[in-house]
Amino acid sequence: MSGLFITLEGPEGAGKSTNREYLAEHLRAQGLDVVLTREPGGTPLAERIRELLLAPSDEKMDADTELLLVFAARAQHLAEVIRPALARGAVVLCDRFTDATYAYQGGGRGLSLARIATLENFVQGDLRPDLTLVFDLPVEIGLSRAAARGRLDRFEQEGQAFFEAVRQAYLARAQAAPQQYRLIDAALPLAQVQQSLDALLPQILERCRG
Ligand code: TMP
Repeated sequence: MSGLFITLEGPEGAGKSTNREYLAEHLRAQGLDVVLTREPGGTPLAERIRELLLAPSDEKMDADTELLLVFAARAQHLAEVIRPALARGAVVLCDRFTDATYAYQGGGRGLSLARIATLENFVQGDLRPDLTLVFDLPVEIGLSRAAARGRLDRFEQEGQAFFEAVRQAYLARAQAAPQQYRLIDAALPLAQVQQSLDALLPQILERCRG
């Protein structure tokens, strides 16, 4: 038996967590075993790496250090949570995964995509998400929603240009592999966003049962 690996991507303020809960509720109502998790994090050790990544600091974090920390957290998360859940046939709903690395460390920080791909293969082998929902949002809206939530973390302190590059990287990945990605307009009111998730549910259920 092998489960289904679904990732949710997009900028801060795109409503990923709310929509992840919404999807989980509907999938559980169908009797599915659903695991909710997130990156960076998802295990106690990976959550400690998350704290290192998100905490603002006087010492500027080198972009390669950031990249390696993200993949270190991911290795732990895969070993402890994701692979065991998929092996028992669960649906894993993960708030961010390696697409975020391509978007933030690739697009935002300008690291080479080839280098990211090397680490992706090293850490994940051939494991890739079955489905990736990209919650797309104009940068200004995302930034103002994040600012309204309070103190900004190390990524949220980046400027408009960084987040434009993040957004473009997500859009490029979604366009390049339409069979894996679904683009969701996260600027719409929540009820409409959830309607587009409702439309996806039959496809997800079919894949789980297929
Ligand atoms: P969030 O999950 O609360 O949105 O915060 C996680 C932050 O970490 C977010 O700003 C994106 C960033 N991040 C990366 O830079 N690379 C990654 O691979 C992942 C998973 C997250």
